[in-house]
Amino acid sequence: MNPALSKPALKELLRFYVEAGVDCALSEEPVDRYAESRELAERRQAARRQAGAEAEERRSGGEETRRPEAAAGEPAHAQAPAVAPAQLPSEEAVMAAREAARSAASLEALKEIMAGFEGCNLKRTATQLVFADGNPQGRVMFVGEAPGRDEDIQGLPFVGRSGQLLDRMLAAIGLDRTMVYIANTIPWRPPGNREPSPMERAICRPFISRQIELADPDFLVLLGNAAAKEMLDTTMGITRLRGRWSEFDTGRRKIRVMATFHPAYLLRNAMQKKLVWRDLLALSEALSQAGDTQ
Ligand code: URA
Repeated sequence: MNPALSKPALKELLRFYVEAGVDCALSEEPVDRYAESRELAERRQAARRQAGAEAEERRSGGEETRRPEAAAGEPAHAQAPAVAPAQLPSEEAVMAAREAARSAASLEALKEIMAGFEGCNLKRTATQLVFADGNPQGRVMFVGEAPGRDEDIQGLPFVGRSGQLLDRMLAAIGLDRTMVYIANTIPWRPPGNREPSPMERAICRPFISRQIELADPDFLVLLGNAAAKEMLDTTMGITRLRGRWSEFDTGRRKIRVMATFHPAYLLRNAMQKKLVWRDLLALSEALSQAGDTQ
């Protein structure tokens, strides 16, 4: 902050930041998380090129095309490519997350593993892990994007304004939080509610996938564009995705999945509530066709 500013001016500036939605200070300099992902993609590409060149070298007999120092018997590490993607911390973090998630035999174990996981930078700025709310035995699981400020404080998903609307949406079809299970694709609040970077999504993905697999609901409802794209592995937008049943493969079995608009979006676009009402009715109908609502 500018030391030349007077105390009242500084106070005014702070008030401006708060009104603009800045609710936590992280560092003096901005960090471009998208640059990390671009760098990763470039490194992967370079590594693929290198692997291709090495395979070609092996195919063509090796010795005569090898670099002089290799032919002269240099140690293996001296011949290592300059780009070593396996040693990238972010790629390692994705691998570590996959392994950690796979090792969880129950939801309780998964929660503990995630609470101790150090591979996602979002954890450093979040107050705590936001794992889940509701009933893990529920037949419906709702998955949102990421915790906001209220969720970060309380350690529970969907407890802020959009959560209150979600509760009303559930009540409209005779459900409540004792009957459904609720989680997010990202379990730590991104600072200042910024969009999670592609790398952060990739690191968190194994956790939510495993959480779905362990909860094993009959129906999965994806709330909003980000959750829908992430879990359905598509670039298609929510407007086209919503309201249609498809299948989500947990690896163990296929679960019926539907995307709908995020409650936060509905708070800004009340006109779209009628479409969500249709989606909720479709869910209610599917539940009653498949048995009771517990
Ligand atoms: N929005 C989400 O996607 N998830 C929450 O938990 C809260 C708001």
